[in-house]
Amino acid sequence: MPRPALRRGWNESTRVSVSSRRTGDHVLTMRGIDKRFGAVRALSGVDFRVREGEVVALVGDNGAGKSTLVKVLAGVHPADAGTIELDGDVVQLSTPADAQDLGIATVFQDLALCENLDVVANLWLGRELLERGRLDEVGMEERTWMLLRELAAKIPSVRVPVSTLSGGQRQTVAIARSLIGEPRIVILDEPTAALGVAQTAEVLNLIERLRDRGHGVVLISHNLTDVLAVADRIVVLRLGRNNGEFDAEEATSEVLIAAITGALDVARPAPLPDEPRAPVIPLSGARRRTDGDR
Ligand SMILES: Nc1ncnc2c1ncn2[C@@H]1O[C@H](COP(=O)(O)OP(=O)(O)OP(=O)(O)O)[C@@H](O)[C@H]1O
Ligand SMILES: [Mg+2]
Repeated sequence: MPRPALRRGWNESTRVSVSSRRTGDHVLTMRGIDKRFGAVRALSGVDFRVREGEVVALVGDNGAGKSTLVKVLAGVHPADAGTIELDGDVVQLSTPADAQDLGIATVFQDLALCENLDVVANLWLGRELLERGRLDEVGMEERTWMLLRELAAKIPSVRVPVSTLSGGQRQTVAIARSLIGEPRIVILDEPTAALGVAQTAEVLNLIERLRDRGHGVVLISHNLTDVLAVADRIVVLRLGRNNGEFDAEEATSEVLIAAITGALDVARPAPLPDEPRAPVIPLSGARRRTDGDR
């Protein structure tokens, strides 16, 4: 049975309900996801889980299937096989509207902001608050400030066009906009890819605020330093399959790179310690090879 749509529209009571939610339950469970594009098998039997209040990084080389997996989750590309559960109920994500109604918000890499509109207008576009049939500009501005304060966002004014903001501030606006419907899951596709050092720190800080608010966060990133700094768990995809899952506190860049490149292959068991090895040749009588040796 598809899960009923969550209530849409942001208000104080929905904010409180998210913030006070118990953390630790799996809000999302994807099992055995397959996706083909013609002859290309983009995903084969992929499993992926997210808890509430957890940041899960999705890493992998170019073409590993990261974007395809989040597009399945965002309802852009329905899966060919596999199941998706939200709070334990199997759901169908056939369109982006299905995903949005079920509380899955995606911030795509291009952000899709309206450059000529101000911050308030961008946040509420298509979901404007009305009061007695007219736009409630004051209400929208107040709630915009409330949300930005909660995210500890550094935006000087909410009445300037988005085109005047820095890359980090625009990312902040796009993330704030994704929170208007109080999603359970927020997907961020390469949020720091185009940012400098200070702006990256700002966005990583923002991701921590999302976790504090109880959202499950899916972070796609090629930057392992960012991933290790902010993620709780790291899921590696390789050639469209799962290739390892790591607790971020224990993972290192070396291990992650090995899993990403295939030097560490979770599908291939490590050799047993008592497996026969090549015979050891005693070194007595051996001599160091010199340049004249062939
Ligand atoms: N719309 C599509 N049509 C055909 N093939 C596609 C489509 N989208 C993705 N693919 C293929 O599916 C595979 C996985 O691609 P995907 O974009 O998910 O990888 P990715 O991990 O996001 O890579 P990147 O790090 O480069 O963004 C690739 O072989 C890609 O060419
Ligand atoms: Mg991609």
